[in-house]
Amino acid sequence: MSDSGFFVSVEGLDGSGKTTQVGLLAQTLATTGRRVTVVRDPGSTALGERVRDLLLEPRAGAPVSHWAETALFLASRLQLAEEVIRPALTHGDVVVSDRYLDSTLAYQGARGISRSEILELHRLFGLTRLPDLTVILDLPVVLAQTRRESGTAPDRMEQESSSYHERVRAGYLDLAGQFPDRIVVLDADRPADEIARQCGSLVKDRLNVGRAT
Ligand SMILES: Nc1ncnc2c1ncn2[C@@H]1O[C@H](COP(=O)(O)OP(=O)(O)OP(=O)(O)O)[C@@H](O)[C@H]1O
Ligand SMILES: [Mg+2]
Repeated sequence: MSDSGFFVSVEGLDGSGKTTQVGLLAQTLATTGRRVTVVRDPGSTALGERVRDLLLEPRAGAPVSHWAETALFLASRLQLAEEVIRPALTHGDVVVSDRYLDSTLAYQGARGISRSEILELHRLFGLTRLPDLTVILDLPVVLAQTRRESGTAPDRMEQESSSYHERVRAGYLDLAGQFPDRIVVLDADRPADEIARQCGSLVKDRLNVGRAT
């Protein structure tokens, strides 16, 4: 079923600048007259925020099963899609999501779960509305780590090894090759305002194309 909304997701390693760019993009879009709904995945629903806490609390005790981890991310996403994203898109909003399915493809993909299995789960769950545009903020792992370390203590995903995060980064770049119409990779090793200008233009151009057809 089509909708009149526009769905943007922002992806990248922890510390790549996603939340910064989501905030700046929302400010830019507010000037276009479109209603903007900002969400984060996992999160942005009561259930999703609780699942987020479960997923991100620093590792203690038994390791989390890779499939259990995947199932929890999907449960949070399903609630987010049903409760917030779908109604907002139906209403004609621009939805800006801080991470979405490409995070599962990159992060759980780097655990060894195949892309086709993850996409099949999304299909089974009815999560078939993909973003219209996905911006990947690409940054070398060490730089992302340095930015992140200036913030809070590392969460469970951030505690993973550098080699894991290298696989996540490579996974993101590979996804951009698989979905060239949807995904744009931006060099995130630049001042935030410069990235924000590029990101804002990308989204506004696509919004205008949508209007013209
Ligand atoms: N372009 C940039 N250049 C330098 N520092 C930046 C840039 N963008 C964001 N930062 C800083 O890097 C840190 C991480 O940024 P931000 O929280 O936006 O990243 P994130 O991708 O959302 O991280 P996380 O995945 O951990 O939520 C913050 O301290 C932020 O101020
Ligand atoms: Mg963030």
